[in-house]
Amino acid sequence: LNPIIKDDNITNILKPYLSTIINKKILIWGAWERGKAYQKALNKLNIDISGFIDSNPRADSFGFPEKQVSLPNILKTEHYFVVVSLEEHGSVFEFLDNLGYKEHIDYIYPSKKIYIKNLMHGYSDTLGNTIQGNIKNASVVLSGSSKLIIGKNTDISDNVKISCGWNSAIVIKDNTIIEKNICIVSYDNSYIEIGKNTKLSYNTYIKAFTNSHINIGNNCKFGFNLSIRLEHNSTILIGNNCLFSYDIKVRANHGHSIIDKNKKMVLKDDRKTIIGNHVWCGMGVSILPGTEIGNNCIIGAESLVNKKFADYVTIAGSPAKVIKENTDWLIDDQISYDFYEKVIQNVN
Ligand SMILES: CC(C)(COP(=O)(O)OP(=O)(O)OC[C@H]1O[C@@H](n2cnc3c(N)ncnc32)[C@H](O)[C@@H]1OP(=O)(O)O)[C@@H](O)C(=O)NCCC(=O)NCCS
Repeated sequence: LNPIIKDDNITNILKPYLSTIINKKILIWGAWERGKAYQKALNKLNIDISGFIDSNPRADSFGFPEKQVSLPNILKTEHYFVVVSLEEHGSVFEFLDNLGYKEHIDYIYPSKKIYIKNLMHGYSDTLGNTIQGNIKNASVVLSGSSKLIIGKNTDISDNVKISCGWNSAIVIKDNTIIEKNICIVSYDNSYIEIGKNTKLSYNTYIKAFTNSHINIGNNCKFGFNLSIRLEHNSTILIGNNCLFSYDIKVRANHGHSIIDKNKKMVLKDDRKTIIGNHVWCGMGVSILPGTEIGNNCIIGAESLVNKKFADYVTIAGSPAKVIKENTDWLIDDQISYDFYEKVIQNVN
């Protein structure tokens, strides 16, 4: 489901600068996926680079064996042409400016962010960004090759921020309600989908880092203070017809490395969290990486969930354990068992 980095798009972005770049010693600023994509695109245009620069001294351990990764200070010792692959960072402009580097002569910085508010009839630009739908109240940031699709009759309140990273997609389907103070952020090459008739309540924060994927199903209701957060290369899937109370946190991985000194290894963490269809999650629940919840489950208030569970169970506690089997739930309060059977018959 994830979109993939489109080299063609980067090639098109770089083409206008070709006559400036040619025959220069080139460094790409940013030893990361997008930097690699810039390198590939330059190679396609028959231009080789001298290496990468990155202000993170550990960047060369991120898998750039074929080219040297240097700190930005290398620009103080020798003059290069710099292709900045980063998102907009004032400090990078400042650093280059202090060295006397001039945009379009000594460096290019094509990954400009596009800021949009109050859009009525779709949008597309030369950086490969597109928006389908209407974004009346939200403020949207697009980072290049990104796609935002907003379905019909979607109700977006004030102070909603949607930010699409490079080559990422955010899809908000029809009849969805997005209340105020909500932030939905996708980083490079990630994908966020929010299903039809789903409601996100105020103070919700959904963040998908690079190469990650969040899929929220149809007809779900989420209470306020929801936080769904994915680090790189991870997945969160939430099924249809789920009911989440308030103050809930969902993660797909730990976000930091855990080291086993006895085994002399870095522990591999889970990078996937799956929640089935028709799951009711009580208030204050935390769902940790590797969790799998079956269909029609109940998660007790304030539970900390980190294991795999079958369908039709009630789980609770820290860590959550099965407290009851063969249970189900209905959104209506105070119903009779007959009513429940009728509803189930209709569903089946
Ligand atoms: C999980 C829940 C639905 C279970 O209700 P229930 O089926 O009536 O369960 P019981 O009260 O019979 O409890 C069964 C056992 O689980 C324990 N238990 C129940 N809920 C628990 C919880 N959230 N955390 C830890 N233990 C819990 C009970 O103490 C009891 O333990 P015991 O057998 O040692 O006495 C309920 O306790 C709950 O947490 N509701 C969520 C309420 C909520 O968040 N509403 C928000 C509206 S969206």
